[in-house]
Amino acid sequence: MAERRPIVGGNWKMNTTRAGAKQLCDSVLRGFTERKIDTEVVLYPPYLWLTDAGDLINASSIKLGAQDGLTEENGAITGGINLTMLSEVIDALLIGHSERRNIFNETADKFSRQLIAASDLGLLRTYCVGEDHTQQETGSTYEVLAEQIGSVFAGEEGEQLSHSIDSNPPSFVIAYEPVWAIGTGLVAQPNDVQDRAEFIRAEISKYCDVSDLIRIQYGGSVNQKNADELAALTDIDGALVGGASLNAEEFLAICEAFSTNSR
Ligand code: PGA
Repeated sequence: MAERRPIVGGNWKMNTTRAGAKQLCDSVLRGFTERKIDTEVVLYPPYLWLTDAGDLINASSIKLGAQDGLTEENGAITGGINLTMLSEVIDALLIGHSERRNIFNETADKFSRQLIAASDLGLLRTYCVGEDHTQQETGSTYEVLAEQIGSVFAGEEGEQLSHSIDSNPPSFVIAYEPVWAIGTGLVAQPNDVQDRAEFIRAEISKYCDVSDLIRIQYGGSVNQKNADELAALTDIDGALVGGASLNAEEFLAICEAFSTNSR
């Protein structure tokens, strides 16, 4: 049977001082090694601390990710940081997070370019999807998920994207994050999370032959108390953790909850 290795990401967003970031990395690394956690772990610190974090975790199996990255070539883009630069430091890229969609008005056009470019650079790609409060209230969750998935495969490079996933399924992860659950303390009902993950897997199967091998994370107020219940869901293979990833003990407990859960 197909095996999907659990994967937990820590999205630090725009948090931590330089010293705090080093300390957090160090604590996660120590706990990860001591507890022999058998989960793929990715840390997403702010850009500025990526190299510090990399220096600390490089020798371990913990992966380092960026929260965004431009696909444009080097050139006249003041303030820009592109994936070619980042790829010297990172292993993974977060794409399509609702905060990128809402605060920076980013759309599928950018996400599909990022998904292709990241694959060309050998990076692990996590594509975030999820409905907001109004969409949930009006019953359009499944429509929204289908659109967010379909739109990245619809562009000129859709076929290339499908091929990059089929040829390396573990390099593509979906994070299902209901926007109303992010940072709010509200967690989606486990049976809803399972239904939505199943739906996401079925949608992916329209574009790729390997949907059974694609890992799906749940994100939105995951903490050490609710992690076990989420880890037990058949189609959930990990978590994308925001607030709770800023506390090493809590983050490690979440990683542990998914640790024994290979499918
Ligand atoms: P949260 O964030 O865990 O703080 O809800 C999750 C995310 O935005 O990825």
